[in-house]
Amino acid sequence: MTRRTVRIAMNGVTGRMGYRQHLVRSVLALREQGGLHLGDGTVLWPEPVLVGRREHALREIAGRHGLTEWSTDLDAVLADETIDVYFDAQVTSAREEALGKAVAAGKHVYTEKPSATSLDAALGLARLARDAGVKHGVVQDKIFLPGLLKLKRLVDGGFFGEILSVRGEFGYWVFEGDWQDAQRPSWNYRAQDGGGIVVDMFPHWEYVLHELFGRVISVQAHVTTHIPQRWDEHGKPYAATADDAAYGIFQLEGGAVAQINSSWAVRVHRDELVEFQVDGTHGSAVAGLRGCRTQHRTATPKPVWNPDLPVTHSFRDQWQEVPDNADFDNGFKAQWELFLRHVALDEPYSWDLLAGARGVQLAELGLKSSAEGRRYDVPELSL
Ligand SMILES: NC(=O)c1ccc[n+]([C@@H]2O[C@H](COP(=O)([O-])OP(=O)(O)OC[C@H]3O[C@@H](n4cnc5c(N)ncnc54)[C@H](O)[C@@H]3O)[C@@H](O)[C@H]2O)c1
Repeated sequence: MTRRTVRIAMNGVTGRMGYRQHLVRSVLALREQGGLHLGDGTVLWPEPVLVGRREHALREIAGRHGLTEWSTDLDAVLADETIDVYFDAQVTSAREEALGKAVAAGKHVYTEKPSATSLDAALGLARLARDAGVKHGVVQDKIFLPGLLKLKRLVDGGFFGEILSVRGEFGYWVFEGDWQDAQRPSWNYRAQDGGGIVVDMFPHWEYVLHELFGRVISVQAHVTTHIPQRWDEHGKPYAATADDAAYGIFQLEGGAVAQINSSWAVRVHRDELVEFQVDGTHGSAVAGLRGCRTQHRTATPKPVWNPDLPVTHSFRDQWQEVPDNADFDNGFKAQWELFLRHVALDEPYSWDLLAGARGVQLAELGLKSSAEGRRYDVPELSL
């Protein structure tokens, strides 16, 4: 086995996503498994260089994981010719500038979503990367989740017949921060800092719908801020200027309709924090992050509407669990592996900055739709 090192500048590793999902569960997990076997006698060995604003925090993380390289000087890291890949999990508002610099420095780039705060900027980045000839990718982790992989298996196996509709329910109660700490960063609730549930979640819904059921061709959304005041990490009250709930209807290429509720002001009475119910002419399924249940047309009960009689059976018990039939890895890690193979072997990779721009486009049109009270067509993007 020959070992080939890929040096990755990882910016934003002190944050929730950067640390837990990308550094620990993806890049360090790859090292724990002995690197990424490329199948040609080579093992790709990711070497992270931690980048951020706070030296003591970087030093502490590096020490905790036996890493030796960190820097608070992004420009110097990008000027280092031995760095192959720049990864960004910073707050969204800081992303465009950093990605632009990394592409200009000739680095391959991989980034959290949304790739930018506006469609123009997202497309601009995609063009920059194309023109520079660097490889680029955007995190689209949800399609790598076990529940959605099982759902894809059902779609690919023709289980549904004609798919009629998709109902998505996403959300949970995010504490206001006064009498119990909030479990999400406060910038998520300030529009001026790049927050808001639409810019956060519509990029996910775009690729989930697109990959499983068909491209989104129109959007109609009602977006609101249910909780107008919250308390930040220092216990200080602030005005929640960003939307914390979005009720969206999406028409899909191929004729199906999707309706997805996203909310940080809802209490969970579901099995998982996100669930999608898909109804087709031949069967239905409900998929979450991990599980997926089906009901075939041959096993569909025949309820009769009669509020005078109590329900005598459990509708939920009439569904069948889809078996795993595979070992599912962490979704973020699975996508990292594909991106690194793309970098090392030039394997095809479709979750790029143009795909990321589609997510930003849907968020932008969703917000516009809500502000103007009208439905928007979603034009197909190209560079
Ligand atoms: N793929 C997913 O499921 C998913 C989930 C949550 C968040 N995200 C995305 O990941 C990114 C990071 O989100 P997070 O929840 O980890 O945020 P976070 O607040 O926990 O972390 C933000 C990181 O950015 C750094 N940073 C750089 N400039 C900053 C500035 N001016 N102000 C504050 N912090 C700054 C922080 O030091 C920290 O390392 C966001 O773009 C978000 O949209 C993706």
